[in-house]
Amino acid sequence: MKMWQNFWLQTIGCLFVTLLLAHSSYAGSVSVHSKNTHPVLTEYDSKIFGGSPVAITSAPWQVSVRLLLFEIQLGQGHICGGAVITSRLIITAAHCLIYPNTTQPIYRLPSEFTVVMGSIYLEEVTPYTLQYNVQQLVPHPEFSLTPLQNDLALLFIDGKIPANYPTVASIAINQMAVDAGVNCSVTGWSIVAKGVNWPVLLAAVLPVISTQQCNSSYSGQISAGMICAGNQSNNGTNAFQGGSGGPLVCNGKLSGIVSWDSGYPEVCTNLSAYYNWITMTNSTFNYDYYGGAMGLHLGAQQMVLGILCLLVTLFLSQAAFIK
Ligand SMILES: *[C@@H]1O[C@H](CO)[C@@H](O)[C@H](O)[C@H]1NC(C)=O
Ligand SMILES: *[C@@H]1O[C@H](CO)[C@@H](O)[C@H](O)[C@H]1NC(C)=O
Ligand SMILES: *[C@@H]1O[C@H](CO)[C@@H](O)[C@H](O)[C@H]1NC(C)=O
Ligand SMILES: *[C@@H]1O[C@H](CO)[C@@H](O)[C@H](O)[C@H]1NC(C)=O
Ligand SMILES: *[C@@H]1O[C@H](CO)[C@@H](O)[C@H](O)[C@H]1NC(C)=O
Ligand SMILES: *[C@@H]1O[C@H](CO)[C@@H](O)[C@H](O)[C@H]1NC(C)=O
Ligand SMILES: *[C@@H]1O[C@H](CO)[C@@H](O)[C@H](O)[C@H]1NC(C)=O
Repeated sequence: MKMWQNFWLQTIGCLFVTLLLAHSSYAGSVSVHSKNTHPVLTEYDSKIFGGSPVAITSAPWQVSVRLLLFEIQLGQGHICGGAVITSRLIITAAHCLIYPNTTQPIYRLPSEFTVVMGSIYLEEVTPYTLQYNVQQLVPHPEFSLTPLQNDLALLFIDGKIPANYPTVASIAINQMAVDAGVNCSVTGWSIVAKGVNWPVLLAAVLPVISTQQCNSSYSGQISAGMICAGNQSNNGTNAFQGGSGGPLVCNGKLSGIVSWDSGYPEVCTNLSAYYNWITMTNSTFNYDYYGGAMGLHLGAQQMVLGILCLLVTLFLSQAAFIK
């Protein structure tokens, strides 16, 4: 009886040590990287013009997609925006999720990301802030670089956003073409100068530009899977960069995900063109399964140490039994 009590105590001890190691492994790996090095953003900067601060209740679907590696101080890991589309699903740009400087996209692991929502403040936690780990990451299978094509991805979070939460809500995806001239709103934290995150959520009104006009501005690079928006008369002021992955909302529906630009206009992923892929992919997720070791990140080394610790415990308890 006594022996089994010891065994369980030691097992709990093992788990504790393993979890501690798991936690410190992240803090440890972070220190070698200088802060505010966001390769994603320097490679594919998206600039949006003329933003002003907005209340979270006017964009409750907005999320901040962050790399844990850079999240030493709150907000510094922010690499892209995204939008809540179901209680467990976030949509963002696929280019936000890849390793930099590769000719073919190579995706980071789900455990490298964290998703923060429910507040306009990038660098503060409010009583309404929600944060989740990413359980699964599904980019569009035909995503490509140069130019960015099919630039969208789904993040299935390891948790469920509470229904009727005061500052977070999902947004429905648009299923129809959006006419040129429709005023849409785009939101994001973005970057005002290289390496500096804008600390409050900004919104800008951007009219949709016809695909034809956009295609001629971008010498034939525009496909039906893109939707262009921008206000040409506003291009010189209030530029903010790093809005990639952020939501473009037209007629109250999520119509685009900020993808790329080279000046004017802004090119977004045209979500109505991907509606079927999104709903089909959504149906592959198990909404009842949560699996992420309670938000901790177990690396291979910690797993091995944990298992060794358990084996030693087992051996010692057996030895005690024989005696
Ligand atoms: C990626 O390439 C750019 C330009 O060649 C370079 O400045 C940058 O340091 C590279 N980033 C990484 C993470 O290697
Ligand atoms: C977006 O995709 C839809 C559905 O494929 C298409 O009808 C529309 O023309 C595309 N472009 C815009 C700007 O809506
Ligand atoms: C879009 O907004 C501009 C500026 O406020 C306004 O002049 C224009 O009529 C609006 N367009 C539509 C289609 O509502
Ligand atoms: C954009 O222009 C190219 C080259 O003219 C053309 O092949 C392509 O179909 C056009 N895109 C759209 C959406 O019409
Ligand atoms: C575009 O920018 C100009 C100049 O700032 C502004 O007067 C106009 O209202 C903007 N249009 C829209 C649709 O926001
Ligand atoms: C917008 O950009 C164009 C081309 O770069 C430039 O000629 C124009 O002056 C700019 N407009 C403003 C308001 O800065
Ligand atoms: C996604 O899947 C969930 C669970 O099956 C379902 O409740 C929800 O309506 C789906 N949403 C969309 C946008 O497909």
